Amino acid sequence: MIQHSKKMEIFSPAIFGDLKKAANEKAKTGVKIIDLSLGSPDLPPNEKIRKTLSDASLQENMYGYTLTGTKSFNEAVSDYYKRRVNVDIEAETEVLQTMGSQEGLVHLPIAFCDEGDIVLTTNPAYVAYDAGIKLAGAEPYYMPLKKENNYLPNLKDIPEEVLKKAKLLILNLPGNPVPAMPNELFFKEVIEICTTYNILVLHDAAYSEYYFEGDRPSSFLSVDGAKDVGIEINSLSKSFSLAGARIAYFVGNKNAIAVLKQLKSNLDYGIFAPIQKAAVTALENAEEITDQLRTVFKKRHQIMTKGLQEIGWEVAPSTGGMFVWAKYPYRMSSIDFTFKLIEQVGIVTVPGTSFGTEGEGYVRIALVQNAVTLQEAIERFATLTFD
Ligand SMILES: Cc1ncc(COP(=O)(O)O)c(C=O)c1O
Repeated sequence: MIQHSKKMEIFSPAIFGDLKKAANEKAKTGVKIIDLSLGSPDLPPNEKIRKTLSDASLQENMYGYTLTGTKSFNEAVSDYYKRRVNVDIEAETEVLQTMGSQEGLVHLPIAFCDEGDIVLTTNPAYVAYDAGIKLAGAEPYYMPLKKENNYLPNLKDIPEEVLKKAKLLILNLPGNPVPAMPNELFFKEVIEICTTYNILVLHDAAYSEYYFEGDRPSSFLSVDGAKDVGIEINSLSKSFSLAGARIAYFVGNKNAIAVLKQLKSNLDYGIFAPIQKAAVTALENAEEITDQLRTVFKKRHQIMTKGLQEIGWEVAPSTGGMFVWAKYPYRMSSIDFTFKLIEQVGIVTVPGTSFGTEGEGYVRIALVQNAVTLQEAIERFATLTFD
């Protein structure tokens, strides 16, 4: 008899398997499924990136352990931060690569939290944060993301006794599932509170290249004092369509990076060298590559937002991100609604409650299909009927 550990009880099975099963059943009836569930980029990586990966993979000396980031990878990150957000990063001591940001996010709380420590996180939030908090035996304190506060957490609502016990604050802007955007004023408030209560800030910048209007949004690290209290985790999965070639990195506070380096040296032996080389090509060509991405996603975002509003849905306003956070105009739980969507019109989304209780009444729509398919999705949404 194989029995799972007690610890396994803290991990709930992901909903994606059940959604896929329902979608497969629907597909058997001849309906073409429109999958807007997973945030896996549908655009291919730029040809320069693929060429670097392919050339490097043919070299004989690319197959050893890399242990940690190569010098050229760390320098490319430092250069990218200087060019894109005008932040000085010391390549050797302020960068640490991870095997995708999920890996870094899930492991990070182990490095900074003891049993019973509090981690401030949002509701809704990307699910990996909760997994990491639980793995470390820490306690989440959920800051609700409300429409009336532009879907940013209201830090003034956090009780003092919670702040005193908190070791870590996790933020994600532009966010998943709610595409709220970062702003300097909010980050300043974060830095002030976290400096006062000695709380480490982890800003997840996975969607930092997804903005559709105006200048690039602030990096957390570009705000005065940020490096004293925090780090950012950034990924090449979304900005450079490298989700399957796993590579991401922590960047920021030197002392925090040193602690994470020690933890990581016990977990793995580094990332495949050709992937690191491909990442360097990506970062060096970031402006050209991400401009193309923004053009495509801006159009998709407009189609989905406008289309849903025209048929009576409410959409969280945003000028960036990869998702649309949509409130459907029917009285039904978000889980029931998601499965009805598959059953009635063959569209797969993710129920809002998969990301936290505040997600009730919402679905998350990933903009991972082309404009024509998204237009068709809108037409199908318009045909929904419920008693
Ligand atoms: C907010 C956020 N952070 C991190 C990740 C993980 O991405 P990866 O592990 O591919 O870097 C995702 C993936 O969907 C995400 O939405």
